[in-house]
Amino acid sequence: MLIPAFTKKSLISFIPQISRKAILLRERLQKKTNGEPIEIQNDFRCFSVDVGCLLVFGIDLKSLENNDNHILHTFHNVVNRMNQRLRSILPYWRVVKMPADRKFDESIEELKQMVIHIARDVQGKMRRNENVGEHCILHTMLEVTDSGENALSDDDLFANMMILVLGSEGTTAAMLSWLCLYLSQDDDLQRRLREEVSGFDMETVDYDALNNLPLTEAVIEETFRIRSTVPALVVEALEDTMIDDLFVEKGTRIFTLTRVDGIKNLENDMVFNPGRWLNDDATPIDLKEMRQKQYPFGYGPRTCPGASLSNLEMKIVLAMLVKHFKLEIVDKDAVEEIYTTSAVPQNLRIRLVALPEGHEHAVPVGSC
Ligand code: HEM
Repeated sequence: MLIPAFTKKSLISFIPQISRKAILLRERLQKKTNGEPIEIQNDFRCFSVDVGCLLVFGIDLKSLENNDNHILHTFHNVVNRMNQRLRSILPYWRVVKMPADRKFDESIEELKQMVIHIARDVQGKMRRNENVGEHCILHTMLEVTDSGENALSDDDLFANMMILVLGSEGTTAAMLSWLCLYLSQDDDLQRRLREEVSGFDMETVDYDALNNLPLTEAVIEETFRIRSTVPALVVEALEDTMIDDLFVEKGTRIFTLTRVDGIKNLENDMVFNPGRWLNDDATPIDLKEMRQKQYPFGYGPRTCPGASLSNLEMKIVLAMLVKHFKLEIVDKDAVEEIYTTSAVPQNLRIRLVALPEGHEHAVPVGSC
């Protein structure tokens, strides 16, 4: 049901919406170029949640412009509580509800009412052939499930919509933060990326241009190799299975590590080197074989449907960052990886230096 929402045609229609949000992210970051270190993952979270809600429901939370937004608080309350529950040893909330759990239930109910209200409103407009605004995933979902045995109940609709927003918010923001960890330590890499995107205009960037960025792609792949934001997946054998010479009985659950093949020799493999993903002539290597060994988006029938979308988002943000800023790490040794719904960098602090429009070299704001 979700797959038709991620066709090439859909992705193309999302690019202008993502670019508009990337421009707002740039404006927000430009206000933070006074030399003070910033916790950039908070800005990426606002970007991701705005893009997620826009592309999934067609609603603009405007959290990039205004953090004090009731729906955003409700949403973060749900995400934060889910993160806490993931670390809890016992699912006590199934037996007894603490005040925070009651708040969680209220927040879920509030989001549910909001989502269903939006969906049924859009559904009515679609049936009456009225304008429903810019394309979003909800439109596709309603088109493929509008009637008969495909018709979705309110619960199904809410579950499908929320998994999309929750699935995209933490993961993409975490990945952008990890990208910054590596970029901010390598001025030359930033310069080469800047060259690669020098012809980009955020207002008009298109699908083909975004698919012709070998170095940017290599930087993203290399970040996934070391820091895939979903480091472990639980899979279950649906039937007795042989994996090489290992017998796996039906029903056995296995923790698979999405990074393990990329990091076997700690000393060499933790070195960030995007060149691993490029041929000698700087063209991208064939990813097919690598995908069997590393799978940051999962593998098989439940693989992440949002992989191509998040790839577009990351490329647009990366292009915006290197075009307009120079990134400098502040105390790289303080950065630690912690696991919430995804693996995120803690204590990542970046100093941003604004680049004058059209210039290749970083000049601190105020000196131009
Ligand atoms: C860096 C960004 C992302 C990463 C690393 C990521 C990773 C993953 C992984 C590992 C899974 C589990 C796959 C499996 O069980 O085999 C997954 C599932 C999923 N992801 Fe993503 N994801 C990202 C972005 C997105 C985006 C942008 C969306 C949607 C807008 C999305 C929507 C989903 C959904 C709906 C599922 C559940 C699929 C199912 O169970 O059938 N993800 N993702």
